[in-house]
Amino acid sequence: MQVVHTKEELAEFMSEWRLHDEHVALVATMGNLHEGHARLVELAREHAERVVVTVYVNPTQFGPDEDFEEYPRTLERDTRRLRKVNADVLFVPSDETVYPFGHDCATVVSVPGLTENFCGASRPGHFDGVTTVVARLFALVQPDAAVFGQKDYQQQLVIRYMAEDLGLPIRIITAETVREDDGLAMSSRNQYLTEEERAIAPELYRTLEQVSRDLQNGKRDFGDLEAQAVAALEDAGFEIDYVAIRRAQNLAPPDRDCDEIVVLAAVHLGKARLIDNVVVTI
Ligand code: PAJ
Repeated sequence: MQVVHTKEELAEFMSEWRLHDEHVALVATMGNLHEGHARLVELAREHAERVVVTVYVNPTQFGPDEDFEEYPRTLERDTRRLRKVNADVLFVPSDETVYPFGHDCATVVSVPGLTENFCGASRPGHFDGVTTVVARLFALVQPDAAVFGQKDYQQQLVIRYMAEDLGLPIRIITAETVREDDGLAMSSRNQYLTEEERAIAPELYRTLEQVSRDLQNGKRDFGDLEAQAVAALEDAGFEIDYVAIRRAQNLAPPDRDCDEIVVLAAVHLGKARLIDNVVVTI
């Protein structure tokens, strides 16, 4: 695996691969890689001969009071992990490469509608930062496909929408959430949890699973189910940001005969903000 920092270095690999008609899949990350990211690389490999992974902690998607400064930067360990899963190129761009005019003067890519609620409501500007950086990474790498995790459900939906709306010739692939043995979705932010909080954290997924079972058993009073989940999560010790039952396709409120549902939740536990979701076919 080669580690490159500039778009010129990256372009050398890309033109070599293109010469041989090889396809390229992108896995965009902010580093501090875990098995969830590794799974994205494996899935990328199933869709393309070459895999490029980017590690870039994108300043524009963090709010002023969020954890940009303390976000764990572990490039050496990330590099070792990516070698093991056989990524072809690790691209670690500088701020100047991603935002040549500076990020205060950057052209912003913004997806309305889908970004208004849920994580968009509690993290103003977050999704503009995500779509702005992902559009730039797409332009820098020019992949044929890009893999995103279901764990960030709203994010992958927003990116799908952006790619389709802008007519980008990039196939967006969604990878299932990778979990710890006790069900907690893997996340770089889990390391902010104390031992006691870590013991509580799997209750988030258990609660979503309970909603999923209730839906599968025919319950359709979505408001009640949300309220029950909120109560269960509060009892467990979480502070609730949102719990929502929505149409999987577009996050609109579901009707009783909608077939693909997503149950989304975001909670605070100590210093950590945890998100998770389950998709249910009813
Ligand atoms: P980051 O949080 O590093 O996540 C990178 C990718 O890994 C995202 O697509 C995310 O959904 C996926 N991922 C994280 N945890 C996962 C898990 N447990 N199982 C499966 N996939 C998982 O998301 C971002 O970075 C940024 O917003 C980014 C898209 C890179 C733009 O800056």
